[in-house]
Amino acid sequence: MIMIRKFFCGLVLLSALVLVPGGVNNARAANDPAKVMGPNACAECHKNEAEVWKGTHHFKTFRDLPRSKEAREIAKKMGARRIKAASLCLDCHFTNQVSGGKVKAIAGISCESCHSAGKSWIKVHSGYSGKKKATETPAEAKTRWEKAEAGGMIRPKEMYRLAKNCYSCHVVPREKLINVGGHTAGSAFELVSWSQGEIRHNLWYGDGKTNKPASAKRKRLMFVVGLVVELETSLRAVGKATEKKTYAVKMAGRASRARKRLAGAAKILSNVPELAAAVKAAGAVGLKLNNDAALSAAADKVAAAGKQIAGKYDGSTFAAIDKAIPGPGKYKGKPVR
Ligand code: HEC
Ligand code: HEC
Ligand code: HEC
Ligand code: HEC
Repeated sequence: MIMIRKFFCGLVLLSALVLVPGGVNNARAANDPAKVMGPNACAECHKNEAEVWKGTHHFKTFRDLPRSKEAREIAKKMGARRIKAASLCLDCHFTNQVSGGKVKAIAGISCESCHSAGKSWIKVHSGYSGKKKATETPAEAKTRWEKAEAGGMIRPKEMYRLAKNCYSCHVVPREKLINVGGHTAGSAFELVSWSQGEIRHNLWYGDGKTNKPASAKRKRLMFVVGLVVELETSLRAVGKATEKKTYAVKMAGRASRARKRLAGAAKILSNVPELAAAVKAAGAVGLKLNNDAALSAAADKVAAAGKQIAGKYDGSTFAAIDKAIPGPGKYKGKPVR
């Protein structure tokens, strides 16, 4: 996938971003091990965020996964010997870095798994355009962030990319891993409840002590964009189904539920026409085997709606959806502080 993306980008530059959505939408491809700096490099400045991360499942999987009997059984069925060396597992369970010409797992799921590999943006995002924080002009700051984004940085404000990235791991769109390896077919992921518990590290902007929950309007946008990305990702996952076994059944169930949930949200938020468009795009497509072309085409349309929503709204007009958003009792894990 990385190779394919580089090939297209090199060949037709940025226009390829529009032409090959399948390639760009694979967020895992954005995590080039040659560009990974590692969580210690981030922790030099982001101490508090690193401390929170160390209390998460994402951190602990580095040590725990290779010791788990279940993991070893999956690996064995897949014909992989060492879990930390099996590319099959590295993608979603570890942060990988090129060292001595080899790809090596250096941590669990870490900063760059979610904010993207840092090499092309780490300096620029923190550099205040070569000035001091107080002397950098707003125009310079704007250019700085644009450069960081062009370097691949996934910023908290980019809701679609942020969500897409979580789902690229949490849906587990790998048929063989599930049918042959017996791996779980993903989890009941939902963006608000899964990001506001143990994951939450809103400590940078503020006093560094209070781990603020996302604001009410931000949670609404998270919830809605999350539903759209859930549908997009599960349609793509069904597209990869070639045999009538666990994978196909689970992913079709997932897509069907996602379709219903999104239709429900579209009804409540009739002031958001993009939601109705996404529901319509996904409504006609058959959730069946060997239907990749049609499912991918529908997923592309759903994705386009998701990007529009993330770019156009801030959630302030979404109050009608509040009742549907999971509350603190549903958050995954305890937030630190
Ligand atoms: C040299 C210090 C330094 C290092 C190293 C550093 N950061 Fe930052 N980071 C900053 C500063 C400074 C800001 C805020 C800039 C501002 O306020 O305009 C920031 C902001 C951020 C933000 C918020 C972006 C936004 O949209 O507001 C994220 C996310 C982030 N950093 C992630 C990382 C990650 C991941 C790494 C490691 C790959 C990293 N940082 C390494 C100093 C650093
Ligand atoms: C496409 C992403 C993806 C790939 C590839 C993947 N996993 Fe997972 N795996 C996940 C996610 C996401 C979870 C957590 C699911 C949840 O929270 O419900 C998970 C959970 C697990 C668990 C149960 C939880 C735990 O940590 O004990 C085991 C065991 C596991 N994976 C082993 C493996 C092994 C071994 C491989 C390689 C052969 C592998 N996985 C490849 C995404 C992936
Ligand atoms: C599981 C994915 C994930 C991981 C791992 C992760 N982040 Fe984040 N990060 C996010 C999300 C999501 C947000 C926005 C959360 C919100 O709005 O509640 C965020 C927000 C931030 C912010 C802005 C915080 C603020 O005060 O508003 C910074 C800075 C940041 N992350 C840096 C880091 C660093 C450094 C690491 C590693 C130590 C890291 N992140 C690990 C997903 C992640
Ligand atoms: C690189 C792949 C990857 C990405 C990206 C990712 N996760 Fe995960 N996540 C996993 C895996 C694998 C596990 C299971 C870890 C374990 O327990 O072994 C997990 C576990 C979790 C858990 C703990 C679940 C539990 O059982 O309590 C939460 C919460 C979570 N992820 C939230 C998020 C959120 C929110 C995002 C995006 C902002 C995200 N993840 C992005 C792979 C990923």
